[in-house]
Amino acid sequence: MSPLVTAKDLVRVYRSKSGPLSKPQELRAVGGVSFSIDAGRTLAIVGESGCGKSTLARLITLIEKPDAGTLSLDGADALDPANAGTLRRTVQLVFQNPYGSLNPRKTVGQILEEPLIINTSLRKAERQVQALAMMQRVGLGPEHARRYPHMFSGGQRQRIAIARALMLQPKLLIADEPVSALDVSVQAQVLNLLLDLQQQFGLAYMFISHDLAVVQYLAHDVLVMYLGLAVEHGPKDLIFGKPLHPYTQALLASTPALGGMRHPHKMAKGEVPSPLDVPKGCVFATRCPHVTDLCRAERPPLRPVGGRLVACHYAERFLDEPAQVVSSIPAAQSPRPQPSP
Ligand SMILES: Nc1ncnc2c1ncn2[C@@H]1O[C@H](COP(=O)(O)OP(=O)(O)O)[C@@H](O)[C@H]1O
Ligand code: SF4
Ligand SMILES: [Mg+2]
Repeated sequence: MSPLVTAKDLVRVYRSKSGPLSKPQELRAVGGVSFSIDAGRTLAIVGESGCGKSTLARLITLIEKPDAGTLSLDGADALDPANAGTLRRTVQLVFQNPYGSLNPRKTVGQILEEPLIINTSLRKAERQVQALAMMQRVGLGPEHARRYPHMFSGGQRQRIAIARALMLQPKLLIADEPVSALDVSVQAQVLNLLLDLQQQFGLAYMFISHDLAVVQYLAHDVLVMYLGLAVEHGPKDLIFGKPLHPYTQALLASTPALGGMRHPHKMAKGEVPSPLDVPKGCVFATRCPHVTDLCRAERPPLRPVGGRLVACHYAERFLDEPAQVVSSIPAAQSPRPQPSP
């Protein structure tokens, strides 16, 4: 069976001009990223703020076109305009802040029926039946159908957004930091709901998060991004068990819930370089504790080492070391404890 999603060497460049006479500046938000996701599986995209996660999400949902690369969804060429209509239904997106994406003037029932009005010829009665059935699946009662988004808690609003995303029976759900704005106790409930729905519907997830404790809980595979590039990619258990890229090691080290250190900020090893001025050699060279002249001169290719892909000249060296965290960098937001199942 071929994967549900196959992305190859996706590139997205933003061009901006600071003045009428200035040369346009190029920002490679996504610099050639490849991955695939099978039905029923979860790929987590992790990395600090600004590394290109949301841009990658917009490419996969066809909101934006890549400047280069190929994308296949459900066996079809997703970049062929002839397929766009059907594929837009195949992929749905859930955001961090559902309040911003739920129309405050519509009831939950209307919000859930809307995708059916736009995309199907179902009659009102049938639409209502489907909306109520989906509400039940995400843990909302029939009495909620007549209420407005502001009458719900953050966790319930995220349930509404998930229900709406599932109304057209997508095969891939992209969740961009879906629980980052929620309290820890509520996070666990929403994550469990996502796990249940994945089993019920055989959904594939692309789960975007800067929080490795959350990723640990539900990912099968992990792709670690830094400055628009994948630096480590493979099975979660291998990567979390023994991270081979110094950046992954540092990310894990700054996640207390995964055995990392309590004061990551004290261990800060510099800032992420500007995406407008990416280092010529290894993208992590300016912060890496193991940097050498070779690292500064030559960009390491993403290559297979220890059952996953790693972009580090010295990845083999870390394979032989005992599993331990070696350095730390500031996390994008304060790390949270791991949600209990
Ligand atoms: N529409 C845009 N125009 C110009 N630059 C953008 C745009 N969207 C994102 N960027 C830049 O691309 C980089 C990646 O952003 P983003 O994908 O939002 O990262 P993340 O989701 O990991 O925080 C950042 O440097 C950001 O400033
Ligand atoms: S290639 Fe060099 S700078 Fe880059 S991660 Fe590996 S050791 Fe660090
Ligand atoms: Mg983002």
